[in-house]
Amino acid sequence: MEDKAKLFLSNKAWANEKLMSDSDYFTNLSKDQNPAYLWIGCSDSRVPANEIIGAQPGELFVHRNIANLVVHTDLNLLSVLEYAVTHLEVDHIILCGHTGCGGVKAALSHLNYDLLNKWLRNLKDVYFNHRDIIDSIEDETAQINKLVEINVVEQVNNLIKTSVVQKAWKHRKSPKVHGWVYHMETGLLDSVIEMNHTSHIDDVYRYTDL
Ligand code: CO
Repeated sequence: MEDKAKLFLSNKAWANEKLMSDSDYFTNLSKDQNPAYLWIGCSDSRVPANEIIGAQPGELFVHRNIANLVVHTDLNLLSVLEYAVTHLEVDHIILCGHTGCGGVKAALSHLNYDLLNKWLRNLKDVYFNHRDIIDSIEDETAQINKLVEINVVEQVNNLIKTSVVQKAWKHRKSPKVHGWVYHMETGLLDSVIEMNHTSHIDDVYRYTDL
């Protein structure tokens, strides 16, 4: 079957299945959204945000990019963050990396990816700052997965350096910021770091007039 026809057929089957258990499912869902979670994850096709935590439509506000980076000049990510935290008032931000991440593997290599170099440069900087740990590991897969883990911690730290998160922490003591790694080999999640409104923010990055 043609790819597009197959996708539309699957869509119809899915919509019908939802309606079978609740005839008002889409009518209710289309009214509003009130998700408790913002998910920031990798674009990798094997890490479908909703699916791996069993979340239903309406439960997760999602942003995905290559290697789940929080770049402080990325208007796309910052807009998603601002909307989720300030307007939707999510209670949790989940920053999720995954083992075997292609973006991390590319950043550890010396290969030229043209435009992508600019994006991966952020990861190369994380590698550079933690080079002693990464270079002390011999196995390539273990190296990649260690940088995946360190990258999650770094990106969580990038999140708490934003005025968006700091303002929400000051005024509503929320959201919690979670750093997770998804293990593709087992389908299971690992918690690497968790921060909340009482967490320490380095003075250099702290805003006082929020
Ligand atoms: Co990835």
